[in-house]
Parts: sequence; C-alpha cells; structure tokens
Amino acid sequence: MTHESNDELLRYRAEFPILERTNYLISNSLGAMPRGVYGAMKSYADAWASRGVRAWEEGWWMLAAEVGVEIGALMNAAKGSVSTHPNVTSCQAVVASCFDFSGKRNKVVYSDLNFPSVMYFWEAQRALGARVEMVKTDDGIRVPIDRLLDAIDETTLLVPVSHVIFRSSYIQDAKAIVEKAHRVGAHVVLDTFQSLGNVPVDVTDLNVDFACGGVLKWLCGGPGTAYLYVRPDLGKKLEPKFTGWFAHQNSFAFETGAIRYTEPPYRFMNGTSNIPALEAARPGLRIIAEVGVERIRAKSKRQTARLIELAQQHGWRVNTPGIPEERGGTVSIDMPHSQEVCQELLNREILVDWRPRAGVRMSPHFYTTDEELERAVGAVGEILGERGR
Ligand SMILES: Cc1ncc(COP(=O)(O)O)c(C=O)c1O
Repeated sequence: MTHESNDELLRYRAEFPILERTNYLISNSLGAMPRGVYGAMKSYADAWASRGVRAWEEGWWMLAAEVGVEIGALMNAAKGSVSTHPNVTSCQAVVASCFDFSGKRNKVVYSDLNFPSVMYFWEAQRALGARVEMVKTDDGIRVPIDRLLDAIDETTLLVPVSHVIFRSSYIQDAKAIVEKAHRVGAHVVLDTFQSLGNVPVDVTDLNVDFACGGVLKWLCGGPGTAYLYVRPDLGKKLEPKFTGWFAHQNSFAFETGAIRYTEPPYRFMNGTSNIPALEAARPGLRIIAEVGVERIRAKSKRQTARLIELAQQHGWRVNTPGIPEERGGTVSIDMPHSQEVCQELLNREILVDWRPRAGVRMSPHFYTTDEELERAVGAVGEILGERGR
C-alpha cells in the first residue's frame, strides 16, 4: 500500500490553485479547478473575439464530440459512443425520449438512493404512461440488491440507477443489475457521476446500455458538461424524440419537416453545445487521464479508510460502507450537530458539505495529503469541544 512519503500524485497539487489556500475535501461536489482552465477560457475568448462566427467550423462544432471521446477514453467506451449535454437530468430526458411507455413494457425501476433530480425526472414520466417502482433502502447506505433485482421483470423497460450512491458512497453491483436487466429485456441507465474519475468504470465490460454523469466532481471539469454513453449497437437504431438540428444528417441544409438522424454521438444531441463549459472541461479530463483512475482509486481507498478510522476513534457515526470494495471516494460522517460543524469547517477554510441523512461528507482526491485529513478531523474535534464548553 502507498504511503504519503512516496505519494507521487501529490506533485499534481501545483496544478490546482485552490489547494494553496484551502483544505479541499469536496471533490464529490465540485472538483478543484485546474490552473489550465485560465488558458482554456482565454483561448475560448480569443477565438470568439478574433475568429467570430468562423470559430464554429474551426473547432466549436466538433468540440462536443471531441470532449465525448476524451470522457469515453476514461470508461473504455468505443469512439463516437459518448455525446455531451448540459447536465445529467437532460441525459435522462434523451434516453427516455428513445422509448415508448404506452405498451406493456412500461416499468421503470430505480432506488430511493438515486440522486433526487434523476428521481424527479422519472417520477414525472408517470404522466406519459411509465409505471415507476422505487426500491427502498433499509439502512440509508446500501441499495438492497436482491429487492432491486427482483423488481426488474419482463415488463421493465428502464433501470436508471447510480453506480456510486451520492449520499453514502456505496458502490452498487452494476454488473449484476445489467445482467438481470438484459435477461428480461430491460435497459440500464447507469449514473456514473460519483464513480467516473474515482472508481474504475468500464462500460464495455459491463455491457451497460447507457451511462451518464457530469464532469464537475471527480473529473475536475467544472459545471455545464455532462456525458451520455450509448452502447454502439443501440446507438445505431435508437431515435430520441428529444432531438434537434445537431442530430440531423445535414444540419446546415436547414431542411424542413421531420428529422433525418445522423450517426452517434451527434444523433443523441439536440441544440447548440455549451462551448465555454466544454473548453473548461478539457484540462481536468487530461489530468485525470494522465494520473489514471487506478492510481486514484488505490489512494482513495487508503485515505477513505484513514478518515473512517479517525471518525471512529472519536465515536462518530459513519454513513459509508466499511468494506473498501463497497466504498467510493466519500466518507459521510454524522457527528453530533453535524450541520453546524459543517458550517464552522467552511469558516475555517476546510471545504466539505452536509447532506440530510448523510452528515458531513469528506472527499479526498488524488491531490489530498494525509495531513489534510488529520487536520479536518482534528478541527471537528475542536469545534465539538468548544460547543461542549
Ligand atoms: C449521482 C448524481 N447524479 C446526478 C447529479 C446531478 O444531476 P444534474 O447534472 O442533472 O444536475 C449528481 C450531483 O450533482 C449526482 O451526485
């Protein structure tokens, strides 16, 4: 196991300005900004200012697909299978629009530990005929896999679930879910927001139908860019009803009437891409590719174990699995007065967040030192000590 003294990943700290000023334990929410984003934003502004409308054909039009290739490389996706979108909720809408809920196969199975925006979206599809079944957690940490698999039956159309649960960092058995879904003819929409960039994801090996997530957390890519992987064989035949001119075979013919779909990835896009967000995403994606998810995962397992150990020494409740193979990059600690503790940590430049039924979430990333973990937990001890006085 790697220890701090030979942690070569710490050399990347210099790439992230905020690490000079803060104890940055919040990459599960917003990854630190790479220094390279300043340059990326400047060249975006320069292209707009000096090339004007020509910037589209000189780079901007292709950017949505190019960034998709960079994201796809991190999850072993075939080239051209990843489209880019503004957020994960829109990715769900693209997927839903490929299907029809009016027939017998109209069931959607998901877990109450999904990210709420994703739940709100699927619940709203009841109005279009979807029968929605939410599988409930018993302990607030894990999704009961047997109940989830049982709920996926011959009438199931879609299974939108998180790979890593945002509240507890529990890693779901995506392989078992995909296998069961495929046995009964259902499709899985795997939300890899909380895994990609921290926990290895291999969409080809999983044989998953769809995978989606955003780049702003573990990929250090900033807000405004999400990705949607569609399995290549499905990508050739699906026809999203949430569509637009980017998905047309000949966008610049401005044809009237119904769409003639182009090939993926543009087939799954619709309107104009968010160019500044795509440009801002690239420096982070490049650093993650260079560091490598395997090395990030090894360090994350070690540091999350250390956080759990420190929290348990204080007797605080940990709402994250103890088994490393079941645990993503976040440790949720529900110490007494956790919401106020979170606020006080922020006042002290220790950046974490708080979520109901989770507690204070601490998320070290490849740029975190062991000393930062000790300091964060030490500060919590101090804050609680001061409150007790
Ligand atoms: C698992 C997961 N899915 C989705 C989201 C966000 O969805 P959206 O991109 O639609 O804001 C988050 C967090 O912000 C998340 O943790």
